[in-house]
Amino acid sequence: MKNIYSNILKFNKKNLSKTLKYLRRSNIVGLPTETVYGLAGNAYSSKSVKKIYNLKKRPRINPLIIHYYDLTKLYNDVEINETFLKLYKYFCPGPITFIMKKKKSSKISKLACANLKTVGVRFPNNKITRKILKRIDFPLAMPSANKANAVSPVTASDVADEFGKDIKIIIDGRKSKIGIESTVLDLNKKPNILRPGVISREKIEKILKKRIMNSNINKNIKSPGMFKKHYSPNIPMILNKKKVSKNHAFITFGKRYKKSINTYNLSENSNLYEAARNLYKLFRKIKKMNYKKIYVAKIPNKGIGVAINDRLKRAAGKK
Ligand code: TXA
Ligand code: MG
Repeated sequence: MKNIYSNILKFNKKNLSKTLKYLRRSNIVGLPTETVYGLAGNAYSSKSVKKIYNLKKRPRINPLIIHYYDLTKLYNDVEINETFLKLYKYFCPGPITFIMKKKKSSKISKLACANLKTVGVRFPNNKITRKILKRIDFPLAMPSANKANAVSPVTASDVADEFGKDIKIIIDGRKSKIGIESTVLDLNKKPNILRPGVISREKIEKILKKRIMNSNINKNIKSPGMFKKHYSPNIPMILNKKKVSKNHAFITFGKRYKKSINTYNLSENSNLYEAARNLYKLFRKIKKMNYKKIYVAKIPNKGIGVAINDRLKRAAGKK
Protein backbone atom coordinates (compact mmCIF):
# COMPACT_ATOMS: atom_id res chain seq x y z
CA MET A 1 0.00 0.00 0.00
CA LYS A 2 2.63 2.47 1.13
CA ASN A 3 4.50 2.06 -2.14
CA ILE A 4 1.56 2.78 -4.42
CA TYR A 5 0.34 5.78 -2.49
CA SER A 6 3.55 7.18 -1.02
CA ASN A 7 2.78 10.51 -2.68
CA ILE A 8 -0.39 10.96 -0.60
CA LEU A 9 0.54 13.10 2.38
CA LYS A 10 -1.24 13.90 5.62
CA PHE A 11 -1.76 17.58 6.23
CA ASN A 12 0.63 18.65 8.98
CA LYS A 13 3.20 21.39 9.53
CA LYS A 14 6.01 19.56 7.77
CA ASN A 15 3.94 18.69 4.71
CA LEU A 16 2.47 22.18 4.57
CA SER A 17 5.93 23.69 4.24
CA LYS A 18 6.91 21.02 1.71
CA THR A 19 3.80 21.87 -0.35
CA LEU A 20 4.50 25.60 -0.19
CA LYS A 21 8.07 25.06 -1.30
CA TYR A 22 6.87 22.93 -4.20
CA LEU A 23 4.33 25.47 -5.38
CA ARG A 24 6.84 28.33 -5.12
CA ARG A 25 9.17 26.35 -7.38
CA SER A 26 6.46 26.02 -10.08
CA ASN A 27 5.69 22.40 -9.27
CA ILE A 28 2.25 20.84 -9.27
CA VAL A 29 0.39 19.36 -6.29
CA GLY A 30 -2.94 17.60 -5.79
CA LEU A 31 -5.18 19.48 -3.34
CA PRO A 32 -8.58 18.85 -1.79
CA THR A 33 -11.47 21.25 -2.27
CA GLU A 34 -15.08 21.03 -1.13
CA THR A 35 -16.22 20.20 -4.69
CA VAL A 36 -13.59 17.84 -6.16
CA TYR A 37 -9.78 17.48 -5.87
CA GLY A 38 -7.69 19.85 -7.96
CA LEU A 39 -4.32 19.87 -9.70
CA ALA A 40 -2.74 23.08 -8.40
CA GLY A 41 0.07 25.28 -9.69
CA ASN A 42 1.16 28.93 -9.61
CA ALA A 43 -1.26 30.79 -11.91
CA TYR A 44 1.36 33.51 -12.54
CA SER A 45 3.93 31.01 -13.80
CA SER A 46 3.55 29.78 -17.36
CA LYS A 47 5.93 26.96 -16.45
CA SER A 48 3.47 25.67 -13.82
CA VAL A 49 0.49 26.14 -16.08
CA LYS A 50 2.15 24.22 -18.91
CA LYS A 51 2.82 21.36 -16.51
CA ILE A 52 -0.87 21.25 -15.60
CA TYR A 53 -2.01 21.08 -19.24
CA ASN A 54 0.54 18.37 -19.97
CA LEU A 55 -0.34 16.24 -16.96
CA LYS A 56 -4.05 16.41 -17.76
CA LYS A 57 -3.55 16.08 -21.51
CA ARG A 58 -5.95 18.98 -21.69
CA PRO A 59 -6.49 20.91 -24.93
CA ARG A 60 -4.95 24.34 -24.57
CA ILE A 61 -8.16 26.03 -25.68
CA ASN A 62 -9.79 25.04 -22.39
CA PRO A 63 -9.05 27.65 -19.69
CA LEU A 64 -8.29 26.88 -16.02
CA ILE A 65 -10.07 28.22 -12.96
CA ILE A 66 -7.91 30.56 -10.83
CA HIS A 67 -8.29 30.12 -7.07
CA TYR A 68 -7.87 32.90 -4.47
CA TYR A 69 -7.99 33.13 -0.68
CA ASP A 70 -10.17 36.26 -0.69
CA LEU A 71 -10.66 39.57 -2.50
CA THR A 72 -7.32 41.13 -1.48
CA LYS A 73 -5.28 39.89 -4.42
CA LEU A 74 -8.17 39.55 -6.83
CA TYR A 75 -8.17 43.31 -7.50
CA ASN A 76 -4.82 42.94 -9.29
CA ASP A 77 -6.21 40.52 -11.83
CA VAL A 78 -9.87 41.20 -12.71
CA GLU A 79 -12.45 43.98 -13.01
CA ILE A 80 -14.80 43.70 -10.06
CA ASN A 81 -18.47 44.68 -10.35
CA GLU A 82 -21.48 45.00 -8.00
CA THR A 83 -23.14 41.75 -9.10
CA PHE A 84 -19.98 39.85 -8.26
CA LEU A 85 -19.66 41.51 -4.83
CA LYS A 86 -23.26 40.59 -3.91
CA LEU A 87 -22.69 36.96 -4.82
CA TYR A 88 -19.23 36.85 -3.24
CA LYS A 89 -20.64 38.11 0.06
CA TYR A 90 -23.29 35.44 0.10
CA PHE A 91 -21.63 32.35 -1.37
CA CYS A 92 -17.86 32.64 -0.83
CA PRO A 93 -15.75 30.87 0.01
CA GLY A 94 -17.87 28.23 -1.72
CA PRO A 95 -18.62 26.08 -4.76
CA ILE A 96 -19.05 28.78 -7.39
CA THR A 97 -16.78 30.09 -10.16
CA PHE A 98 -17.24 33.55 -11.66
CA ILE A 99 -16.16 34.43 -15.19
CA MET A 100 -14.89 38.02 -15.04
CA LYS A 101 -13.03 40.49 -17.20
CA LYS A 102 -9.26 40.17 -16.95
CA LYS A 103 -7.25 43.34 -16.22
CA LYS A 104 -4.56 44.21 -18.77
CA SER A 105 -2.05 44.48 -15.92
CA SER A 106 -2.90 41.01 -14.59
CA LYS A 107 0.02 38.62 -14.07
CA ILE A 108 -2.07 35.50 -14.71
CA SER A 109 -0.44 33.32 -17.34
CA LYS A 110 -2.13 33.81 -20.72
CA LEU A 111 -2.15 30.09 -21.26
CA ALA A 112 -4.14 29.57 -18.01
CA CYS A 113 -6.93 31.66 -19.55
CA ALA A 114 -6.51 30.07 -22.99
CA ASN A 115 -5.76 33.57 -24.28
CA LEU A 116 -9.28 34.77 -23.46
CA LYS A 117 -9.99 38.25 -22.10
CA THR A 118 -11.78 36.67 -19.14
CA VAL A 119 -10.75 34.72 -16.03
CA GLY A 120 -12.63 32.01 -14.14
CA VAL A 121 -12.28 32.92 -10.46
CA ARG A 122 -13.07 30.75 -7.42
CA PHE A 123 -12.62 30.86 -3.63
CA PRO A 124 -12.60 27.23 -2.49
CA ASN A 125 -14.07 26.40 0.91
CA ASN A 126 -11.64 23.81 2.22
CA LYS A 127 -9.57 24.44 5.35
CA ILE A 128 -6.39 22.86 3.98
CA THR A 129 -6.42 24.60 0.63
CA ARG A 130 -7.33 27.92 2.26
CA LYS A 131 -4.34 27.60 4.60
CA ILE A 132 -2.14 27.11 1.57
CA LEU A 133 -3.72 29.98 -0.41
CA LYS A 134 -3.24 32.30 2.56
CA ARG A 135 0.49 31.63 2.67
CA ILE A 136 1.44 32.11 -0.99
CA ASP A 137 1.62 35.38 -2.89
CA PHE A 138 0.13 34.05 -6.11
CA PRO A 139 -3.28 32.50 -6.92
CA LEU A 140 -3.56 28.82 -7.88
CA ALA A 141 -4.58 27.60 -11.32
CA MET A 142 -6.47 24.44 -10.42
CA PRO A 143 -8.52 22.26 -12.74
CA SER A 144 -10.06 19.05 -11.45
CA ALA A 145 -7.30 16.48 -10.88
CA ASN A 146 -8.25 14.01 -13.60
CA LYS A 147 -7.08 13.32 -17.14
CA ALA A 148 -9.04 15.33 -19.72
CA ASN A 149 -12.64 14.09 -20.07
CA ALA A 150 -12.36 11.55 -17.24
CA VAL A 151 -14.31 11.53 -13.98
CA SER A 152 -13.30 14.15 -11.41
CA PRO A 153 -11.59 12.78 -8.26
CA VAL A 154 -13.23 13.09 -4.85
CA THR A 155 -10.50 11.50 -2.71
CA ALA A 156 -6.70 11.66 -2.61
CA SER A 157 -6.47 8.06 -3.82
CA ASP A 158 -8.66 8.90 -6.84
CA VAL A 159 -5.99 11.49 -7.74
CA ALA A 160 -3.23 8.90 -7.29
CA ASP A 161 -5.23 6.52 -9.52
CA GLU A 162 -5.29 9.20 -12.24
CA PHE A 163 -1.65 10.31 -12.13
CA GLY A 164 0.34 7.68 -10.24
CA LYS A 165 3.78 9.01 -9.41
CA ASP A 166 3.61 11.83 -11.98
CA ILE A 167 2.70 14.17 -9.16
CA LYS A 168 4.87 14.08 -6.09
CA ILE A 169 2.47 15.55 -3.54
CA ILE A 170 -1.22 14.87 -3.04
CA ILE A 171 -2.59 16.28 0.20
CA ASP A 172 -5.20 14.08 1.83
CA GLY A 173 -8.28 16.07 2.79
CA ARG A 174 -10.70 13.12 3.00
CA LYS A 175 -13.70 12.82 0.70
CA SER A 176 -14.87 16.06 -0.96
CA LYS A 177 -18.01 17.27 0.82
CA ILE A 178 -19.91 18.29 -2.29
CA GLY A 179 -18.62 15.79 -4.82
CA ILE A 180 -19.34 17.62 -8.11
CA GLU A 181 -17.62 20.64 -9.65
CA SER A 182 -18.51 24.26 -8.89
CA THR A 183 -21.28 26.19 -10.61
CA VAL A 184 -19.70 28.29 -13.39
CA LEU A 185 -21.43 31.66 -13.69
CA ASP A 186 -20.50 34.05 -16.49
CA LEU A 187 -20.60 37.63 -15.18
CA ASN A 188 -18.87 39.11 -18.16
CA LYS A 189 -22.18 40.14 -19.75
CA LYS A 190 -25.66 39.29 -18.51
CA PRO A 191 -25.29 36.66 -15.73
CA ASN A 192 -25.43 33.27 -17.35
CA ILE A 193 -24.81 29.76 -15.94
CA LEU A 194 -22.25 27.87 -18.04
CA ARG A 195 -22.04 24.82 -15.77
CA PRO A 196 -24.70 23.99 -13.14
CA GLY A 197 -23.59 23.00 -9.63
CA VAL A 198 -24.95 22.77 -6.08
CA ILE A 199 -25.36 26.54 -6.02
CA SER A 200 -28.45 26.43 -8.19
CA ARG A 201 -29.94 28.98 -10.54
CA GLU A 202 -32.78 29.56 -8.05
CA LYS A 203 -30.31 30.41 -5.26
CA ILE A 204 -28.41 32.87 -7.44
CA GLU A 205 -31.63 34.49 -8.64
CA LYS A 206 -32.75 34.98 -5.05
CA ILE A 207 -29.61 36.95 -4.22
CA LEU A 208 -29.59 39.00 -7.43
CA LYS A 209 -33.38 39.44 -7.36
CA LYS A 210 -33.58 38.81 -11.09
CA ARG A 211 -33.92 35.95 -13.56
CA ILE A 212 -30.71 34.57 -14.97
CA MET A 213 -30.04 32.39 -17.97
CA ASN A 214 -28.89 28.82 -18.23
CA SER A 215 -26.85 28.76 -21.37
CA ASN A 216 -26.00 25.06 -21.58
CA ILE A 217 -28.14 24.62 -24.59
CA ASN A 218 -26.62 27.63 -26.28
CA LYS A 219 -24.82 26.55 -29.43
CA ASN A 220 -22.24 29.25 -28.92
CA ILE A 221 -20.15 27.27 -26.43
CA LYS A 222 -18.23 29.50 -24.07
CA SER A 223 -16.98 26.94 -21.64
CA PRO A 224 -15.10 24.16 -23.38
CA GLY A 225 -15.87 22.04 -20.30
CA MET A 226 -19.34 21.87 -21.76
CA PHE A 227 -18.22 19.60 -24.58
CA LYS A 228 -19.68 16.14 -24.95
CA LYS A 229 -18.20 13.16 -23.12
CA HIS A 230 -16.92 15.12 -20.19
CA TYR A 231 -16.99 13.52 -16.76
CA SER A 232 -17.25 10.16 -18.43
CA PRO A 233 -16.46 6.74 -16.93
CA ASN A 234 -16.14 5.55 -20.54
CA ILE A 235 -18.77 2.84 -20.37
CA PRO A 236 -22.02 3.21 -22.37
CA MET A 237 -24.56 4.85 -20.09
CA ILE A 238 -28.31 4.87 -20.65
CA LEU A 239 -30.48 7.32 -18.72
CA ASN A 240 -34.05 7.32 -17.36
CA LYS A 241 -34.38 3.54 -17.05
CA LYS A 242 -36.88 1.83 -14.74
CA LYS A 243 -35.20 -1.55 -14.43
CA VAL A 244 -32.11 -3.43 -15.50
CA SER A 245 -30.92 -6.90 -16.49
CA LYS A 246 -28.38 -8.74 -14.33
CA ASN A 247 -25.34 -7.95 -16.50
CA HIS A 248 -25.56 -4.19 -16.30
CA ALA A 249 -24.97 -1.83 -13.41
CA PHE A 250 -28.00 0.19 -12.32
CA ILE A 251 -27.60 3.59 -10.64
CA THR A 252 -30.78 4.38 -8.69
CA PHE A 253 -32.18 7.15 -6.52
CA GLY A 254 -34.73 6.83 -3.68
CA LYS A 255 -36.48 3.77 -2.25
CA ARG A 256 -38.52 2.76 -5.27
CA TYR A 257 -36.03 0.36 -6.84
CA LYS A 258 -35.38 -3.26 -5.92
CA LYS A 259 -32.02 -3.81 -4.23
CA SER A 260 -29.68 -6.30 -5.82
CA ILE A 261 -26.00 -6.93 -6.32
CA ASN A 262 -25.82 -4.72 -9.43
CA THR A 263 -27.82 -1.74 -8.10
CA TYR A 264 -25.99 1.27 -6.70
CA ASN A 265 -28.15 3.80 -4.90
CA LEU A 266 -27.14 7.47 -5.05
CA SER A 267 -29.37 8.28 -2.08
CA GLU A 268 -31.99 6.02 -0.53
CA ASN A 269 -33.48 9.04 1.22
CA SER A 270 -33.86 10.89 -2.07
CA ASN A 271 -31.42 13.55 -0.86
CA LEU A 272 -29.88 15.36 -3.83
CA TYR A 273 -26.85 16.59 -1.83
CA GLU A 274 -26.07 13.00 -0.89
CA ALA A 275 -26.58 11.92 -4.51
CA ALA A 276 -24.10 14.54 -5.76
CA ARG A 277 -21.58 13.44 -3.13
CA ASN A 278 -21.87 9.80 -4.24
CA LEU A 279 -22.02 10.24 -8.01
CA TYR A 280 -18.33 10.19 -9.06
CA LYS A 281 -17.41 7.65 -6.39
CA LEU A 282 -20.01 5.32 -7.92
CA PHE A 283 -18.75 5.98 -11.46
CA ARG A 284 -15.26 4.89 -10.38
CA LYS A 285 -16.51 1.89 -8.42
CA ILE A 286 -18.69 0.64 -11.28
CA LYS A 287 -15.89 1.15 -13.78
CA LYS A 288 -13.66 -1.18 -11.76
CA MET A 289 -16.38 -3.88 -11.80
CA ASN A 290 -16.14 -4.34 -15.59
CA TYR A 291 -19.82 -3.90 -16.39
CA LYS A 292 -20.46 -3.37 -20.08
CA LYS A 293 -23.27 -0.86 -19.59
CA ILE A 294 -24.58 1.43 -16.90
CA TYR A 295 -28.30 2.12 -16.62
CA VAL A 296 -29.44 5.13 -14.63
CA ALA A 297 -32.84 5.76 -13.03
CA LYS A 298 -34.61 9.09 -13.37
CA ILE A 299 -33.23 11.81 -11.09
CA PRO A 300 -35.51 14.80 -10.23
CA ASN A 301 -34.46 17.76 -12.35
CA LYS A 302 -34.81 20.45 -9.66
CA GLY A 303 -32.19 22.44 -7.73
CA ILE A 304 -29.04 20.32 -7.38
CA GLY A 305 -30.73 17.67 -9.52
CA VAL A 306 -30.09 19.93 -12.53
CA ALA A 307 -26.32 19.64 -11.91
CA ILE A 308 -26.50 15.85 -11.39
CA ASN A 309 -28.49 15.39 -14.60
CA ASP A 310 -26.03 17.63 -16.43
CA ARG A 311 -23.11 15.37 -15.43
CA LEU A 312 -25.11 12.22 -16.22
CA LYS A 313 -26.05 13.50 -19.68
CA ARG A 314 -22.44 14.40 -20.41
CA ALA A 315 -21.22 11.01 -19.18
CA ALA A 316 -23.81 9.41 -21.46
CA GLY A 317 -22.65 11.60 -24.37
CA LYS A 318 -26.11 13.16 -24.64
CA LYS A 319 -25.19 16.76 -24.14
O1 TXA B 1 -15.11 22.77 -8.54
C1 TXA B 1 -14.32 23.15 -9.42
O2 TXA B 1 -14.55 24.12 -10.14
C2 TXA B 1 -13.00 22.37 -9.56
C3 TXA B 1 -12.15 22.59 -8.30
C4 TXA B 1 -10.82 21.90 -8.35
O3 TXA B 1 -12.00 23.96 -8.07
N1 TXA B 1 -12.31 22.78 -10.73
C5 TXA B 1 -12.77 22.48 -11.98
O4 TXA B 1 -11.91 22.91 -12.99
O5 TXA B 1 -13.79 21.87 -12.19
P1 TXA B 1 -12.00 22.36 -14.49
O6 TXA B 1 -10.84 22.94 -15.17
O7 TXA B 1 -12.10 20.89 -14.45
O8 TXA B 1 -13.29 23.00 -15.05
C6 TXA B 1 -13.31 24.40 -15.26
C7 TXA B 1 -14.40 24.79 -16.21
C8 TXA B 1 -14.11 24.34 -17.61
O9 TXA B 1 -15.33 23.92 -18.18
C9 TXA B 1 -13.58 25.60 -18.27
O10 TXA B 1 -13.83 25.61 -19.66
C10 TXA B 1 -14.38 26.68 -17.56
O11 TXA B 1 -14.47 26.22 -16.23
N2 TXA B 1 -13.69 27.98 -17.59
C11 TXA B 1 -12.55 28.35 -16.96
N3 TXA B 1 -12.20 29.62 -17.29
C12 TXA B 1 -13.14 30.06 -18.16
C13 TXA B 1 -13.34 31.27 -18.87
N4 TXA B 1 -12.49 32.30 -18.77
N5 TXA B 1 -14.43 31.36 -19.68
C14 TXA B 1 -15.30 30.33 -19.81
N6 TXA B 1 -15.17 29.16 -19.15
C15 TXA B 1 -14.11 29.01 -18.34
MG1 MG C 1 -12.64 19.05 -14.97
